[in-house]
Amino acid sequence: MRIVLVGAPGSGKGTQAKMLVEKYGVPQISTGDLLREAVAAKTPLGLQAKAAMDAGQLVSDQIVLNMIEERLKAPDTQNGFILDGFPRNIPQAEALDVMLNRLQKPLQGAILIDVDFDLLMQRITGRRTCVSCGAVYNIYTSPSKLEDHCDQCGGNLHHRADDNEETISNRLRVYEMQTAPLIAYYTNQNKQYTQEGNGEIEEIFEGLCNIIDSLPLLTPQKEDIETAISMEESENKTTIMENHQELTTFDDKSKEKAKETEVTSEKKAKEAPKTSVKRTTRSTKRKKKEATTMAAKKKATATKAKATKKKAAKKKAAPKKKKAAKKKAAPKKKKAAKKRK
Ligand code: AP5
Repeated sequence: MRIVLVGAPGSGKGTQAKMLVEKYGVPQISTGDLLREAVAAKTPLGLQAKAAMDAGQLVSDQIVLNMIEERLKAPDTQNGFILDGFPRNIPQAEALDVMLNRLQKPLQGAILIDVDFDLLMQRITGRRTCVSCGAVYNIYTSPSKLEDHCDQCGGNLHHRADDNEETISNRLRVYEMQTAPLIAYYTNQNKQYTQEGNGEIEEIFEGLCNIIDSLPLLTPQKEDIETAISMEESENKTTIMENHQELTTFDDKSKEKAKETEVTSEKKAKEAPKTSVKRTTRSTKRKKKEATTMAAKKKATATKAKATKKKAAKKKAAPKKKKAAKKKAAPKKKKAAKKRK
């Protein structure tokens, strides 16, 4: 069986889900329990979810959907599941339909446990839960025999952090605004059932079992699977686009940051105290002077080297010149001697 239990906070979803698990042998998947585990373990997801839960608001759809998708892939869901507290709004319900069609496990029915609002406050404020086995009690309507301990396993009974009056009114408001519209959503799909939830726990359980036993055995429809696949493809495309956008934004942000840093350092240089400006000016002057001296020294050395080279070249060229002059003068001398003779 594959069902969703819908109902206001305190309507008895958890209590009934645990009894259904016993009878039908399929797991209860409660997003509230999964989130509380994550909060207790202080995982990054838990830390992110905590603030919303403490305020009685819904945790982000993305967190919950990732959690559910992982959980629905587990082998113990082979013969079905009871979703307790999920979906909580229309986008979650739509995402669940896609997910289940893809897994070829379409939902058979959504069952509303319908309880009068004035009963809910007493049910929630009086709730006590066993920290070891998760059994649920109520100090007004179904107390444990062992006071603060669980009748079944002896574990400590715990009062939930979000079961205080202020948070409860928020949770009830969120239910009215965001969760109640699911009734119309599932009515449109011919999957909506209602069980009156004001009576005794056993009575309500019997009613739920009757509904479940009469649920149609839905097999996945070809067109639903195709829709799920095409939606998944477009989701992937969107994710790629989003990732691209994120990267582009990141790149732009880096550029902006680099520009900011540039501007800031320019600004800092301008705004820096005068002493440091003086220090900078002085050091610049010193550097300039040093550079000039160095250049002058280099020039002097180069000139000296040039002069030495010239001298050496002259010296080397002197005998050659003498020889050439002698050679040049020789025929004249010969001629003069001949004349004298
Ligand atoms: P969650 O844990 O799901 O809380 P909830 O929906 O507010 O439901 P409860 O657990 O309070 O009530 P229940 O209907 O299970 O009643 P129970 O059987 O215990 O969610 C908690 C928070 O997590 C949310 O506020 C949100 O922040 C976050 N969250 C969870 N799912 C999310 C999602 N999908 N998306 C986003 N955020 C999400 O019964 C209550 C008491 O009444 C018990 O003491 C019980 O003994 C007693 N009782 C039950 N039936 C009867 C009866 N017939 N007669 C007398 N007493 C009864």
